[in-house]
Amino acid sequence: MAPKDTMQAAVASPETGGGNGPAHVAIIMDGNGRWATQRGRPRVAGHRVGAERVREIVRACPDLGVRYLTLYAFSTENWKRSVEEVITLMGLLERYILSETEKLSREGVRVRFIGDRARLSERLQRLMERMEARTCANDRLHLTIAVNYGARDEIARAARTLARDLAEGRLSEEEADETALGNRMDTAGLPDPDLVVRTSGETRVSNFLLWQSAYSEYLFTRTLWPDFSVEDLRDAISHFAGRERRFGAVARR
Ligand code: IPE
Ligand code: IPE
Ligand code: MG
Repeated sequence: MAPKDTMQAAVASPETGGGNGPAHVAIIMDGNGRWATQRGRPRVAGHRVGAERVREIVRACPDLGVRYLTLYAFSTENWKRSVEEVITLMGLLERYILSETEKLSREGVRVRFIGDRARLSERLQRLMERMEARTCANDRLHLTIAVNYGARDEIARAARTLARDLAEGRLSEEEADETALGNRMDTAGLPDPDLVVRTSGETRVSNFLLWQSAYSEYLFTRTLWPDFSVEDLRDAISHFAGRERRFGAVARR
């Protein structure tokens, strides 16, 4: 578990008092490679342990009051990695889907994938569709997994759809507003994240949910993803509860 002092708030010191837990937590699961390297093991060993953490964290969410969990699994930039690493990551995702579909379906978890699927293998695309279909009636936890996801790519694809709808007369120019664009994002229908957590000590967003996190709280922890425990998630949630979100308005008295 991470010592408390490794949790750094991205905003000024947490305000005291009040606030509820985050309904939607999004996580940039980072640090698998460093975790493995520190142990003299190949990077892919970190990804394997990281996949175990995903199973644990997903299972813990409902009891922590989290209704929506969004996980960044593979970015549009992660193709730049070695073929071996990319193949391992895709294989872990396949294995996750195969081992979790029935379990999550029974546990009331609805699974959705965001990102551009066109570049993924047919087999993986079929598994993703099957998992989504199998869990679509669930409502206890909404798990969203970002695969070949990049926020700029998502915004560009949504803009393209909007442009097509305008050109083909399904939408007037006046109707082309924030809601119309938001409805064309991969995340349409999901609430914006309340809290975005990034592990591994990097304090950047790396093309994750740029549109949706306009007013999210950010929490950066030095803990590497393979070490991130349910206790760390609990800490992140209580840290969030201490913050005052103003959404541009004046502080409450
Ligand atoms: C996160 O861990 C997993 C993915 C990006 C797929 P990394 O693989 O980025 O680990 P570091 O950042 O190199 O330690
Ligand atoms: C972000 O981590 C992507 C995922 C966690 C899937 P990266 O490790 O790819 O990000 P950078 O390269 O450090 O910005
Ligand atoms: Mg990384």
